[in-house]
Amino acid sequence: MSFSSSSMAVARIIFMVVMAVLVMVLHGSTETLGTADLPDLVLDYYKQTCPSVEQIVRRNVEIAVFKDPRMAASLLRLHFHDCFVMGCDASVLLESQGSMVSEKQAVPNLNSLRGFEVIDEIKYVLEEACPYTVSCADILALAARDAVLLRGGPEWNVLLGRRDSLKASFSGANQYIPPPNSSLETLIANFQDQGLDVADLVALSGSHTIGKARCLSFRQRVYDVSTEHDYDRYKRHTTFRRILRSICPESGRDNEFAPLDFMTPARFDNHYYLNILEGEGLLGSDNVLVAEDDEGEIRRQVWAFASNQKLFFESFVKSVVKMGNINVLTGNEGEIRRNCRFVNS
Ligand code: HEM
Ligand SMILES: *[C@@H]1O[C@H](CO)[C@@H](O)[C@H](O)[C@H]1NC(C)=O
Repeated sequence: MSFSSSSMAVARIIFMVVMAVLVMVLHGSTETLGTADLPDLVLDYYKQTCPSVEQIVRRNVEIAVFKDPRMAASLLRLHFHDCFVMGCDASVLLESQGSMVSEKQAVPNLNSLRGFEVIDEIKYVLEEACPYTVSCADILALAARDAVLLRGGPEWNVLLGRRDSLKASFSGANQYIPPPNSSLETLIANFQDQGLDVADLVALSGSHTIGKARCLSFRQRVYDVSTEHDYDRYKRHTTFRRILRSICPESGRDNEFAPLDFMTPARFDNHYYLNILEGEGLLGSDNVLVAEDDEGEIRRQVWAFASNQKLFFESFVKSVVKMGNINVLTGNEGEIRRNCRFVNS
């Protein structure tokens, strides 16, 4: 009798402890889900207010990319440069006004970012269909998704409900978007600032499977003899380097272009990773992923992506969704801009 009642008591205590632990674990996990990992974005945010939003964006991105295939790359990059400066809030689209200097003037963006007219066009059509409803930040996220898909890349669901910033950050754009001659250490730190890890850095760098860079962005990498050994470990003075030097002389022709992925420049595929394994990435920042990876962790990831495109696509989707969640404005924060280039007056 006394034995069974004391074992009952023990059982009750164990039960309560287990419940308490469960509650703590569940509470803890929903808390991290609610804040860091998944902000208050949802898939069907515009279901009632603008059901045709995805169709409108898709259609207009298709038209733009049909006219200019490179536009797919430019739209993807626009989303990246938006998200890395104060979060995915369309701050990158604002023009200079009063004392506020546009992010478009910052070093990584000046004479380089493209696609603003495409976003304007999409916004114009959306304002006709559902006025004052769809944020410019959500347009950027949707356009990036559609652009990747159109070049043969993976598709993903875009979480929606971002709101637009009330200001731009010129200094933030200079500070947070890494330059193409960054060391691996700098790249990792830059991504860490945004809550992105090394796996995200490796997967998102695969974006350089499409699009172009200016001579200005890769000259240092093709002439700097001090880094030659690192990059050209396998082949010194390769044909590749010769071709790049012919496009980009030691001085001048700053705005000549070379494709970021010389093997399959127009396709979103995993050739980028094959290139950097050979030291044949276009930018310094592409090659340091392999060249400066002392522990071999990144090289393993690059090998995996180079030999398995499906794995690259899955990782890319995970990381690009994560990037799209950086510091988003929701609820009553920010506004829905009527014109993506200016805050509402
Ligand atoms: C890892 C750090 C990165 C660095 C240092 C970097 C740097 C650059 C540079 C210098 C260019 C050429 C700009 C020019 O010469 O006009 C470029 C182009 C591009 N970048 Fe990156 N980038 C990085 C990461 C990313 C990420 C995360 C994405 C997308 C998620 C991305 C997407 C692109 C695309 C698509 C282009 C081609 C744009 C076009 O053709 O218009 N990059 N990048
Ligand atoms: C990168 O390039 C910039 C501009 O050309 C230069 O000022 C800077 O010193 C370079 N940084 C490195 C690490 O080479």
